[in-house]
Amino acid sequence: MTTGIRWGILGTANIARASFLPGLRAAGGQAAAVAGRDAERTRAYAQQQGIDRAITGYEALLDDPAIDAVYVPLPNALHLPWVQRALEAGKPVLCEKPLGLTAGEVDTMVATSTRVGVPLWEAFVFMFRPHFAEIRAWIADGAIGALQEVDSHFRFALRSRDNIRLRPELGGGALYDVGCYPVHLATQLFGGAGIRAAVLVDPDPTGVDAATSGVVAFETGQLLFGASLASGPDTFTRIVGSEGVITTSNPFHPGDGDELTLQQGNRRTTVRAGDGTPSFTAQIAHIQRVVRGEEAPRATAATTSRATAATLDLIRQAPRGQ
Ligand SMILES: NC(=O)c1ccc[n+]([C@@H]2O[C@H](COP(=O)([O-])OP(=O)(O)OC[C@H]3O[C@@H](n4cnc5c(N)ncnc54)[C@H](OP(=O)(O)O)[C@@H]3O)[C@@H](O)[C@H]2O)c1
Repeated sequence: MTTGIRWGILGTANIARASFLPGLRAAGGQAAAVAGRDAERTRAYAQQQGIDRAITGYEALLDDPAIDAVYVPLPNALHLPWVQRALEAGKPVLCEKPLGLTAGEVDTMVATSTRVGVPLWEAFVFMFRPHFAEIRAWIADGAIGALQEVDSHFRFALRSRDNIRLRPELGGGALYDVGCYPVHLATQLFGGAGIRAAVLVDPDPTGVDAATSGVVAFETGQLLFGASLASGPDTFTRIVGSEGVITTSNPFHPGDGDELTLQQGNRRTTVRAGDGTPSFTAQIAHIQRVVRGEEAPRATAATTSRATAATLDLIRQAPRGQ
């Protein structure tokens, strides 16, 4: 058994298996427990994924003093109630994106985090990775001049119709699932929420958006975005300034084949975007250092999540063509 920060996972989620656990292992954390609604399914998942304990019911995991931090990869509509309960139980929380369905939900969770003095993070893991520091440094150093436009897409083809992404009551749809990424990138780079939006929505028969694309105006520039559950895969992104352009094949979860390119006139600089570690490693490692008291929390929900949730509100309420 590994030692280190003891993590508990709420739900036998695909993303926990595919991305959180590889990142946790690379960060030296301990997969101490998974809680699920069904005892047998949870036991099997724990065994297959090498998690120490299976617990029936999320509440029991949150009440367990042998859990130091909690990962919440539940359907989007369940983030609010379970993040609230985890924070009230005194557990630092890494919650999946989008943290809330509205800015009001995000405000509620951030207020609880502040009141109980327990940190909360949204799993936009790219914020903690070296390629994003490189993008920020290029912009801060004036390499592309004044930032004018983020042109960013996240599209993929959902293989099964039996998926939480097609359930409106669980907070499904392309905008919430993948559109939140370009929006988060833009709010972090422009330093605030959008102020106007126009969108085109392709509805799915279930009532969720199969695709949403559009333009969002910010105080100092604009976001052109595309989000889809029915095409791709595509995560191409351009960050356009008055003097240059940064392009990247995948700013959200770059792998070994992904690159960042800075174009200034005829000069082109290309660097690797991936750093050879699983995507979640850097954010989990940061949270563990915070829990051990070795580092102050950074890029928490309190400082980074509201502008994104407010911009998603703006997009959902914008005049739409269908
Ligand atoms: N950061 C990223 O890279 C990334 C990538 C993919 C997904 N995500 C996010 O992660 C979250 C989970 O996505 P996923 O694809 O892993 O979903 P998933 O495989 O369907 O997992 C969700 C889990 O929630 C639990 N659950 C509780 N109530 C449920 C209900 N009414 N219906 C269905 N499941 C319910 C289930 O576990 P039990 O039945 O065992 O309790 C289920 O395994 C979402 O917020 C999504 O946006 C993030």
